[in-house]
Amino acid sequence: MNRAIAWMFTLLLITFLVACGRSQNTAQSVTTQSAHAMQLNNAPSSAAQATEASQASAAQATEASQASAAQATEASQANAAQSANVSQLAELLPPSLIATPISSLGDPVRGKNLFIPCSGCHSTSTEVLLGPGLAGLFSAQGPVLPEGVDYNGLLPNGKERSEENVAEWIRSGGAGSIGYMPPHNLDDQQMADLLAFLRTLK
Ligand code: HEC
Repeated sequence: MNRAIAWMFTLLLITFLVACGRSQNTAQSVTTQSAHAMQLNNAPSSAAQATEASQASAAQATEASQASAAQATEASQANAAQSANVSQLAELLPPSLIATPISSLGDPVRGKNLFIPCSGCHSTSTEVLLGPGLAGLFSAQGPVLPEGVDYNGLLPNGKERSEENVAEWIRSGGAGSIGYMPPHNLDDQQMADLLAFLRTLK
């Protein structure tokens, strides 16, 4: 009988110990699980942070590259426009009219005053008075001439349309098929100013 009680006691003890062991294990596993869960909770947010960060830097990089691409495009467009302008000018104007060795030293504002004596015979538009209106004087075809007159883009004296030859014409005066223009005595600075003004007449 004592033996049986002793066995039962031992069994109970064993069961108790086993139960204790189990519950410890369970407790441990619960802690590890919750730790895992926390990590997992943290993990997505840090992953999200990483994603955000990389998205942000990707967006920045894209913006930067787009901006520089846009700049490059603008620059190349500007270059293209410039070269188009230059080539258009080159098509329209003979080399003598692109170079402005005289008028580049002049001041068109002073030149406007020097034009006063001319204005009795010349308008600054295409309107013909005694002489032709001087708008377009420095274009390849020259100013608009009265009906029936055509100098083929040359000056009334048959010389090529260049600043040098226009200056000479103004100083010497002369007559073509329209009429006579009296000579005008201007010094070099006055001529530079006057031609700079005449260049503004388009
Ligand atoms: C008294 C009138 C008169 C005055 C003043 C006069 N001109 Fe003229 N000009 C003429 C006439 C007329 C012609 C046209 C000559 C022709 O084609 O037969 C002419 C032609 C010209 C031309 C050539 C236009 C062309 O066919 O390309 C120029 C340039 C010109 N004048 C500039 C001037 C300037 C600048 C002044 C002032 C400093 C001036 N003229 C003063 C009468 C005048």
